[in-house]
Amino acid sequence: MGQAVLLIVDDEAGVRESLRLIFGKDFRICEATGCEEAIGKVKEEKPEVILLDILMPGADGLETLKRMKDVHPDGQVIMLTALNTARTAFAARETGAFDYVIKPFDVNELRLRVDRALEKTRLSREVARLQQDLGRRFGIQNIVGKSKSILEIFRIVSVVASKKSTVLITGESGTGKELIARAIHFNSDRANKPFVVVNCAALPDALIESELFGYERGAFTNAYQRKMGHFDSAHGGTLFLDEIGELGVGTQAKLLRAIETESFMRLGGTEESKVDVRIIAASNRELEKLVKDGGFRPDLFYRLNVVSLHLPPLRERQEDVPLLVEHFLRIKACENSCKPKNLSAEVIDYLLSYSWPGNVRELENLIERLTILVSQDVVGVENLPEAIRQRDAVASVRERVLNGSLSLSDAVDEFERELIVKALEKAGHNQTRAASLLGTSRRILRYRMEKLNIIERSHAAG
Ligand SMILES: Nc1ncnc2c1ncn2[C@@H]1O[C@H](COP(=O)(O)OP(=O)(O)OP(=O)(O)O)[C@@H](O)[C@H]1O
Ligand SMILES: [Mg+2]
Repeated sequence: MGQAVLLIVDDEAGVRESLRLIFGKDFRICEATGCEEAIGKVKEEKPEVILLDILMPGADGLETLKRMKDVHPDGQVIMLTALNTARTAFAARETGAFDYVIKPFDVNELRLRVDRALEKTRLSREVARLQQDLGRRFGIQNIVGKSKSILEIFRIVSVVASKKSTVLITGESGTGKELIARAIHFNSDRANKPFVVVNCAALPDALIESELFGYERGAFTNAYQRKMGHFDSAHGGTLFLDEIGELGVGTQAKLLRAIETESFMRLGGTEESKVDVRIIAASNRELEKLVKDGGFRPDLFYRLNVVSLHLPPLRERQEDVPLLVEHFLRIKACENSCKPKNLSAEVIDYLLSYSWPGNVRELENLIERLTILVSQDVVGVENLPEAIRQRDAVASVRERVLNGSLSLSDAVDEFERELIVKALEKAGHNQTRAASLLGTSRRILRYRMEKLNIIERSHAAG
């Protein structure tokens, strides 16, 4: 952090001089003698603290203060005045001054106040920075992918973010529904307002209503005091209703009402509260099917489905896998303060042909585990979990047959080979037991082994 800047605005050279003497060691000082000059300096120097004389010829200090706050809201202003009137003090506060000091001032007192103002500026800059970080973390640039479906999602997210339209996000578990919801929020003009997540599957119907809408004191036996609901806390921001398909039909009706009227009533309440909330809903169940089966109100479905985004499972966008792998290798290394691991070509092959039933979350967890647990720099196939090594063989064979690089009979051979090798391993290389695992005789097993060129290290009969 560079040296903080203090701007002194006073028309009297003597006052500026003495203030410069007091603060010259701790601050870089700049000075202005009047309003216009002060505004110019504020724009140019972005001072952390401003000492502003309240009664200067020309524009009065309060006017200057107002304009300063417009161009440079995070610099804190301390008003200096010779008049000790409650009215000026009050006006200064109203206009956004941080503090107020009466001339002639006590040096120590003034120092203390300037320190406090500096602290305040630094804190508010820190908060702004964190907020920006948060926005960056959930920015579109952190959604990785180049498949057609992801590119289309980027496009919709960037168009829809700035609108207030309700968005419905569907997709299997782990496909990135919450990530997209956050990206929409943090790219909207609501980014500095709350993003509230409600998991509709986590609570029974009776509780979810009091969670959503809150309750008044005395609404039920244990309601000792009024409780704010998620609609209250999301005011001005975004309410993310996760697993919306799990909502009971009664709650669905109340939710629809709240969305349509932009108001709601607390349990046990008699008055409606107005709210300004953007709704994003997500579901890993097919809502349309739920509607058909009578488990979801069609009117609510249509109200939520203004903009719909479907996140395809990862197995349907395999071209995203290498990018995601690279992304998570980098992130997990960073989080664990180590060097990013490398993956052997064979490992990448396996990852490409795996079906990822847990989608991106499963891939993320895998890379995290590999980053933490594998000690060597290059991750090999032996480090992959069994599930990936196994299921992979079948998936990759299927893939190769369907893209014409492997004939059906070779594929069948390969599949059989794989099963026989696995069965032998499982049976401790006892062929009789392996044969019975496979539901065949030892004789046929031996015949197939020979045919498939499977050489056993032990020919021990069982
Ligand atoms: N395209 C992507 N780029 C980068 N990270 C992603 C991507 N998609 C998902 N992720 C990451 O994968 C993890 C799972 O994503 P998320 O929680 O958004 O999934 P979800 O669809 O809400 O899952 P669930 O239905 O289980 O709640 C998160 O850590 C998220 O950051
Ligand atoms: Mg989720």
